[in-house]
Amino acid sequence: MGILTEDMKRVISQNRLGFYATVCPDGTPNLSPKGTTMIYDDDHLGFVNLGSPTTLSNLAANPAIEISMVDLFIRKGYRFKGTATIVTEGPIFDGIRDSYKGSSVQPLIDNVKAAVLIKIERALPLISPAYLPGVTEEETRAQWEQHWGQVTNDYHAETAKQS
Ligand SMILES: Cc1cc2nc3c(=O)[nH]c(=O)nc-3n(C[C@H](O)[C@H](O)[C@H](O)COP(=O)(O)O)c2cc1C
Repeated sequence: MGILTEDMKRVISQNRLGFYATVCPDGTPNLSPKGTTMIYDDDHLGFVNLGSPTTLSNLAANPAIEISMVDLFIRKGYRFKGTATIVTEGPIFDGIRDSYKGSSVQPLIDNVKAAVLIKIERALPLISPAYLPGVTEEETRAQWEQHWGQVTNDYHAETAKQS
């Protein structure tokens, strides 16, 4: 059995947007989002380089990486710590690149020259402190569905006003 549980896979595949921390040569952190996060297998994640020069140069010098992914509706997620390998050809590169076939990302992928494979060495849950007073997952989901529904309605109302 691999390190990725079914619920981790759900959060990754539903959200796809992960926040990736790498280490700069001067020891400072570098954090940037990747919306192409994919499950390579039960122990590995991947993403494609569409415009992440600092992440890639940091990884070339130091493969340490940590990824944070959160389900914004239930305010729970996971953090994955591991080691990254940059791949520019071969079956792993092809496997990551081909995983986006038929998805909305595909038009961006055709000219991709590098992908990153991450071996996950530690996976820990993230749970919002909002749960501490005994709030349930159902209550949390209802609250944030309402919030994002309101954000969406406000956006459309504003757009309609401007047109
Ligand atoms: C929602 C979102 C998704 C993104 N997805 C990716 C991605 O999958 N791959 C990538 O290379 N860049 C992606 N980017 C762009 C990088 O995060 C952005 O260019 C960033 O400045 C790169 O910084 P870095 O070089 O420090 O990694 C995404 C940006 C956003 C806002």
